[in-house]
Amino acid sequence: MKLRESGMPPQDFWETLFDVPRILDAFGFGPDTAEVVELGCGYGTFTLPLARRIGGTVHTLDIDAAMVALTAQRAAEAGLANIKAVTRDVLAAGFGRPAGSCAAALLFNILHAEEPVALLRAAREVVRPGGLVAVIHWRSDIPTPRGPSLDIRPHPEKITAWAPEAGLAVEGTSFDLPPWHFGLKLRRA
Ligand SMILES: C[S@@+](CC[C@H](N)C(=O)[O-])C[C@H]1O[C@@H](n2cnc3c(N)ncnc32)[C@H](O)[C@@H]1O
Repeated sequence: MKLRESGMPPQDFWETLFDVPRILDAFGFGPDTAEVVELGCGYGTFTLPLARRIGGTVHTLDIDAAMVALTAQRAAEAGLANIKAVTRDVLAAGFGRPAGSCAAALLFNILHAEEPVALLRAAREVVRPGGLVAVIHWRSDIPTPRGPSLDIRPHPEKITAWAPEAGLAVEGTSFDLPPWHFGLKLRRA
């Protein structure tokens, strides 16, 4: 099932809305980062820059086959062999990687879904002990040019409350990712 309000505006506009290197820096992704999973590749906005900087593979999935095809095409054009993009419904079938196999899971712009704790649990399942579940989302405290309806946008406090239900610990506090986002680091114990 496609998660609510998970469509996107055109790619060229979407990709003006993030400072991608700053976001990836904030989570500490670099050459020492091994396997990573990503829920919702979308246009590959984060997939490609992440693959360029990590040592492992980015295993990304999306329920929308056109998004998967686009991301795979962009990866091929960029000569990035460490991107595996598959069409998959995470709610029905999980991430499709062995339990505990990944250094990190990306939940970017997706926790406004109907079942956020189920998504957090799926991410916890796939990361190794001590692994990172990296979350970004649209801020609710400032006007933003995009993002899901305010009534379903998760505040950092809400995600902090969900984390222990999913077996995750919050590391530090949320942080701003200008211009429009916040980030939160969750860890599997
Ligand atoms: C708002 S977009 C965010 C994409 C990307 N994470 C980003 O921030 O650029 C959400 C993506 O999740 C995908 N999606 C929605 N429901 C899904 C599901 N049940 N399983 C996998 N992907 C899903 C959508 O097709 C869409 O590409």
